[in-house]
Amino acid sequence: MNSLTPREIVAELDKYIVGQIEAKRKVAIALRNRWRRQQLPLELRDEVAPKNIIMIGPTGVGKTEIARRLSKLADAPFIKVEASKFTEVGYVGRDCESMIRELTEVGIKLIRDEMKKECLHAARERAERRLLDILLPPQPQGPQRIYKPADPNSGDEAPAPAPEERSAEQKTRDLFLAKLRAGELDAREVEITQRESPGNSMMQLFTNSGMEEMGVNLQEMFGRMAPQRTKKRRVPISEARSILEQEELNELIDMDAVTPRAIERVENAGIIFLDEIDKIAGRGSQGSGPDISREGVQRDILPIVEGSTVITKYGPVRTDHILFIAAGAFHVAKISDLIPELQGRFPIRVELESLKAGEFGRILREPRHSLVVQYKGLLSTEGVELELTEDAIDAISQICQDVNAESEDIGARRLHTIMEYLLEDISFNAPERSGEKLVIDGAEVRARLANIREHQDLTKYIL
Ligand SMILES: Nc1ncnc2c1ncn2[C@@H]1O[C@H](COP(=O)(O)OP(=O)(O)OP(=O)(O)O)[C@@H](O)[C@H]1O
Ligand SMILES: [Mg+2]
Repeated sequence: MNSLTPREIVAELDKYIVGQIEAKRKVAIALRNRWRRQQLPLELRDEVAPKNIIMIGPTGVGKTEIARRLSKLADAPFIKVEASKFTEVGYVGRDCESMIRELTEVGIKLIRDEMKKECLHAARERAERRLLDILLPPQPQGPQRIYKPADPNSGDEAPAPAPEERSAEQKTRDLFLAKLRAGELDAREVEITQRESPGNSMMQLFTNSGMEEMGVNLQEMFGRMAPQRTKKRRVPISEARSILEQEELNELIDMDAVTPRAIERVENAGIIFLDEIDKIAGRGSQGSGPDISREGVQRDILPIVEGSTVITKYGPVRTDHILFIAAGAFHVAKISDLIPELQGRFPIRVELESLKAGEFGRILREPRHSLVVQYKGLLSTEGVELELTEDAIDAISQICQDVNAESEDIGARRLHTIMEYLLEDISFNAPERSGEKLVIDGAEVRARLANIREHQDLTKYIL
């Protein structure tokens, strides 16, 4: 399991997310606590419940972004789900327990990938052996003797092939193996017999459309019933190698070993990010239909957060130690609109601050894949070199803050609309301006945006 220290986690998040130090720290601690718990003696480990977190902050300040980046860091089964997608049991839609099934699916994939790494070497060797068998079909054994009582030699063992003959064959194989490894044979075509995995076809469609909810592994059921199909294909060796390797890998990985490991990992290290939790806030009593169902969703989520057993197609999964990180803008609804039982299950609260010009500037400059870097990259494919001066970035940030203050505060998402508007002409004309270098400075930014900034209404529409 991942053993990044909180400081390292925050440093990693810093590469992509500006500010929001509080939130990053809390999330980092929670993640580290997963690891700490794993180091404890068994009885104590059972007692340590995860401290679920709830992140509150206006729209577009990095809540979902933190989850997205965290998922890459956490070497653990991790999913992000939108609370608003779930419906109360009995209504049409995804029931809350399906998030655990989804998490288990992720866990299985994670463990499979881990095991693939362990088996890669063996699979590669087996694939090479199969390739060699195709290139140099094994020599048939010497002629079989038929028992003839009159034959003085009969009954003897068939003479073993002369040692030099064997080693000659071995030598050719070694020679070919060396060539194979050096990639000298890559272009040569061979005919391979490919096993068709039963999961590839129809069944996938079925299971995706919610049949999985029944907790039955249909895919496996039908997969076992259908005979394994094979088909012959002619492919270059370079391709054949990866196909055979993949086949051998699948063969080597033992699903019976994957499943318990995956469930163990999900139960102890799993993390669920419950986004848009404010959308299910609101208590039923006074309102009409949707509100009641919202409260129902909260009640359905309750036991999952609290700890219960969910039946998945891989077996029962206990949710006691799964970490939940919830997030919501809570513009309309307040935390206190969640049912009290649910509030209590999220002991750690963290507020994300709304962003100001300084942060917008940093968001444009610092993150590894910032918007500016993205636009530069996109335009470079047309042969246009784009440069935004420091002054220009300051101007954009200032306008961003002003517009957010005047109309709706949509946080860093405003940068997207402003940049898009600013670069519209360049984007449109780029193919004709190939080879040029375009420099945009602060004056140009202000000039381009001035005419719409003058008209409040226009601003509302465009930016
Ligand atoms: N602090 C930040 N640092 C870097 N980028 C940010 C930051 N905040 C927001 N962004 C950028 O703004 C966009 C929207 O952010 P995000 O999806 O995290 O919003 P959110 O807080 O989840 O809002 P909502 O409540 O509407 O879901 C993303 O593309 C993200 O890259
Ligand atoms: Mg979000």
